[in-house]
Amino acid sequence: MDNRQKLIVNGGSQRRIEGELRVHGAKNSALPLLSATVLAHGECVLHNTPRLTDVDAACRILTQLGCRVRRDGDTVSVDATNVSGYEIPETLMREMRSSIVFLGAVMGRNGRCRLSFPGGCELGARPIDLHLSALEQMGAEITEEHGYLNCEGTLHGAKITLSFPSVGATENIMLAAVTAKGYTEIHNAAREPEISDLANFLNKMGAKIFGAGESVITVRGVERLEPAEHSVIPDRIVAGTYLCAAAITRGELILTNCEPQHMNGFLTVLESMGARIYNYGGEKLYITCKKRLIAPPTIRTMPYPGFPTDIQAPFTALCATAEGTSVFVETIFENRFRHIPELVRLGASVKTEGRVCVVEGVKRLSGAKVCAAELRGGAALVTAALAAEGTSEITGLQYIDRGYENIETALRSVGADIRRS
Ligand code: UD1
Repeated sequence: MDNRQKLIVNGGSQRRIEGELRVHGAKNSALPLLSATVLAHGECVLHNTPRLTDVDAACRILTQLGCRVRRDGDTVSVDATNVSGYEIPETLMREMRSSIVFLGAVMGRNGRCRLSFPGGCELGARPIDLHLSALEQMGAEITEEHGYLNCEGTLHGAKITLSFPSVGATENIMLAAVTAKGYTEIHNAAREPEISDLANFLNKMGAKIFGAGESVITVRGVERLEPAEHSVIPDRIVAGTYLCAAAITRGELILTNCEPQHMNGFLTVLESMGARIYNYGGEKLYITCKKRLIAPPTIRTMPYPGFPTDIQAPFTALCATAEGTSVFVETIFENRFRHIPELVRLGASVKTEGRVCVVEGVKRLSGAKVCAAELRGGAALVTAALAAEGTSEITGLQYIDRGYENIETALRSVGADIRRS
């Protein structure tokens, strides 16, 4: 993609978000699910797979490993019959730091994996010590040379206690454990919906995983996994971002293909701010927001089912025009306020100090040229630009495209004046 591309947004009070929007499949589910296909002796089919650059990167890794990958609309088929590769080259690791989730699956399939050490990323250091120590407990021997990690060994079950409920580490352990010899227990496991989605898919493939979605997950290793068909769960963060877009423009929006159950951590906050939300049952959610929102009680990002770190940035944008002072405490990642100086350029009044950010609500934002430095921060800038009077230009779209499928087409379909040039 041409990194000079920009989004041009004409925002302000005349431009309410109104209409109906379909939420695409979850990036954070699609990536581990694609990685799981490596374990199947045959062709898996994944429906509702979002068209995102991170998903393309995962497909390139699969091809590199020897899989045959085909996409037809939202359906991706992966034939892993002939997987023999075990190396993920540096270029692909750099493209997407979460490629680390291939480690467990490739180890499970081949008993060896070589990948470049994922360096720092936009959100701070993002270490992988929990992933590596778990695999070592399962019998892998891990060495590091010239920036590469070599992982080798026949895996066996183990009792693993995570010091933090890491999403990626929980996924990697599950992927490694499903064909390891014996039982694996994961204590203090992550409970995110994406964990349950991965467990459901693996179980369809013949795995024996119990307790996904709870703090203790048990896996009984099986001999081999067979191919399966599955549909990726809806993206709760994309859904949340579009709810913020509706709320900041005092609009009215129906989201379809979403899973409100997964969104309680922030739906309650939106309601406390004065938005009215109706769950029509099933997968439909309606939000209406006629008046100026009021600042919510202190927001602390937490592992699921708490307030997700991934939706913190769009909420800071939302609070920028709310009445009163909002306080955010970011407890998951160290560097997740990089969008704040850009929000300030749009007229927001925000101060950050370490992991705390204080937003003084202003009556109006005004259009400006801003640049996204990471995915969710980029979505926050789009959210703010929709409400900012006049024209905004947003660059850094390569980050936004990692997690939002054609964000401008989606928002234009519900009344936003936004285009890419
Ligand atoms: C996943 C999501 C990301 C989300 C995050 C938290 C994907 C592809 N990404 O990222 O969007 O923001 O969960 O909900 O699913 N940590 C360690 N050592 C480790 C692993 C993690 O110290 O070995 C720390 C991290 O630095 C971070 C915290 O644990 O501070 C949470 O990280 P983790 O839950 O692992 O997030 P990811 O899986 O990377």
